[in-house]
Amino acid sequence: MQQIYVDLGKSSYPIYIDRGSLSRVGSILRGHMELSRAAIATNNVINKLYGDIVRDSLQSAGIETEIVEVPDGEEYKSLEWAGRIFDAFVEHRMTRQSSAIALGGGVIGDLAGFAAATYMRGIPLVQIPTSLIAQVDSSVGGKTAVNHPKGKNLIGAFHQPRFVLVDVDVLKTLPEREFTAGLAEVIKHGMIMDRELFGYMESNLSKILDLDMHSVEQIISRSCKDKATIVEQDEKEQNVRAILNYGHTVGHSIEAVTGYNSFRHGEAISIGMAVASRIAVNMEILEEECEIRQNHLLAGCGLPTTFPDLDIDKVMDTIYLDKKIREADRLRFVLPKDVGEAIIVETVTDDQIRNAISEVKRQ
Ligand code: NAD
Ligand code: GLY
Repeated sequence: MQQIYVDLGKSSYPIYIDRGSLSRVGSILRGHMELSRAAIATNNVINKLYGDIVRDSLQSAGIETEIVEVPDGEEYKSLEWAGRIFDAFVEHRMTRQSSAIALGGGVIGDLAGFAAATYMRGIPLVQIPTSLIAQVDSSVGGKTAVNHPKGKNLIGAFHQPRFVLVDVDVLKTLPEREFTAGLAEVIKHGMIMDRELFGYMESNLSKILDLDMHSVEQIISRSCKDKATIVEQDEKEQNVRAILNYGHTVGHSIEAVTGYNSFRHGEAISIGMAVASRIAVNMEILEEECEIRQNHLLAGCGLPTTFPDLDIDKVMDTIYLDKKIREADRLRFVLPKDVGEAIIVETVTDDQIRNAISEVKRQ
């Protein structure tokens, strides 16, 4: 079993990566803490596929376990559904000596993570990510949240898990479009900080797309290492962690203007990265050749790098609404300098964003 350590002092934890590890969660959890109760939060799709395996493993380790099922969908990443998880925690007599288990994609990881962060002012949490996005990004780093009707992830907390358990085999049941969307976050890690990962993806793309488990495991472990490196330097996103938001300024706004139902998160981020790299080329920060490499890799994965129908005014309005809600200072844009290197720039003007979007729209 591969282990990647996230070094955060008292809140440090390992990420375990192995095939078939789902059925070992009970004994692994026992090795981490003394407990008699756990509650698995998952959705109806993942529960059918993997709920029993995880519950049986916990129960065989002598941990009394309940499953709390949430419907499948981003719209359930809400305070209302966090409330229902709290109800189940109370009913199951969960305490700070119990553990919440988030079994699912990024939606469940964020929602169950938020419930664990706030119930009794914080109880232990285990992340078992089942989508590629969750395995390479959202389960690592402790960001948990629910959405507010006015914006995504507006209510949340930092709450690091006791460990993250990545079972690569579960990706076999992940819909292809979700897998592809997850690749956008891997390419993001390559672009902002990991030239080798980027090169590995270029050289092994057909194997990755064919779900060759060795290659998939490589990109997952590399991505987890990259994310761990950033989170270790800046757990609460005071500075360098912001580079993980590469492609997200425009990407989030594309998700918002399309009502969160046209694009998967990773697809919107892919277009966002195409726009950010165009801004960087126009500002002479990035060589055009690097932009071409990035867009070629994104397109090779089947990800969008253009969106001809995009309404630029609406995108700009959403970017500023998002910024107004979240921060008083200037817009911080993450721009690539090279394949494997990114910087945060606060001087990008509205016109530069608009021009880049219209160029990307025309591609
Ligand atoms: P998701 O959780 O909705 O999962 C995508 C779909 O795949 C769902 O229908 C889910 O049921 C299904 N699924 C997941 N694993 C499966 C499996 N193994 N087999 C079959 N079906 C499976 O979405 P996502 O893309 O995983 O995550 C997106 C969410 O993550 C967003 O809410 C985003 O805000 C959040 N996110 C959080 C962070 C963070 O740092 N906390 C980072 C990135 C994204
Ligand atoms: N996904 C961005 C972060 O974890 O900071």
